Amino acid sequence: MAKPKVVLTRRWPKPCEDRASELFDAKINRDDKPMSVAELQDALRSIDALFPTVTDKITAEVQGVSPRQAKLIGNFGVGFNNIDIEAAKKNGLVVTNTPDVLTDCTADIAMTLLLMTARRAGEGERHVRNRQWTGWRPTHMLGHKVTGKTLGVLGFGRIGRAVAHRAHHGFGMKIIFNDPFPPSEADIKAVGGEKRDSVEAVLREADFVTLHCPAMPETRHLMNAKTFGQMKPSAILINTARGDVVDEAALVAALQAGTIAGAGLDVFEREPQVTEALLGMENVVLLPHLGSATMETRVAMGMKVIDNAQAFFAGKAPPNRVA
Ligand code: 8YV
Repeated sequence: MAKPKVVLTRRWPKPCEDRASELFDAKINRDDKPMSVAELQDALRSIDALFPTVTDKITAEVQGVSPRQAKLIGNFGVGFNNIDIEAAKKNGLVVTNTPDVLTDCTADIAMTLLLMTARRAGEGERHVRNRQWTGWRPTHMLGHKVTGKTLGVLGFGRIGRAVAHRAHHGFGMKIIFNDPFPPSEADIKAVGGEKRDSVEAVLREADFVTLHCPAMPETRHLMNAKTFGQMKPSAILINTARGDVVDEAALVAALQAGTIAGAGLDVFEREPQVTEALLGMENVVLLPHLGSATMETRVAMGMKVIDNAQAFFAGKAPPNRVA
């Protein structure tokens, strides 16, 4: 039997590319530049499965090619807001994602941002590199203490709880959270969580606010001028979820007005563009969507995409089906 035809829309770590090429008739976008709408449509016309990433918008228009040969979209990532899921369901396309394997590394990057922003690490690094450091003094670059402070977690799923675990058990932080679908009492207790009944209650009490909800219409601009106004002026926002959850213009305004004290951002509203004003702010730490960017995790993500596709092509239920 001929091998299923698949397209990897970007380069993958070598072990994953090798396994994909062994199992499938795999076409790899070796340029590693985002594919155009026309290229994605051409792929869906002529192959069996597309393996996109966050940079590929698999809209209703992209999916709407006729005739379409593709039956599977194996997303390389746990977040799948790059795919129009309603359209996929209507089109009879199966969609899978890559949960679990990136939980730890994404939680690690959230803590990296939290610590860097609170302790002015980005600013300090620039200071040293720019040869501006004149020596130690008691008042130099004082930041915010992290240990023992209150962390507000919006979205208490796998990644939110992994951040809470690190913050509570590693840094003695008090953990408060809000989630419309809270986890089990045992899972909450394991990370020292305390439930709050509204986003506002979390924002009013937290010294640090970290976002871990999926990007969906209900969470678009969850952080806006009004909700920034509910945070403490000394509080710091951390976003490793999706750029759409934060109104970036309102964030800039809140930082400029001193409504909040700082922000650590791994994701942006219009990636890879970053609002110009943020680039000049010393109280902001900016990373280029590195949440899952370790060799171990990216290999595990690629393998998960392949596992799902293998199951699908063997006529079995893919383990991580989301549509
Ligand atoms: C990925 C992520 O880098 O999995 C996710 O949801 O945000 C990142 O870990 C990205 O999605 C790749 O498509």
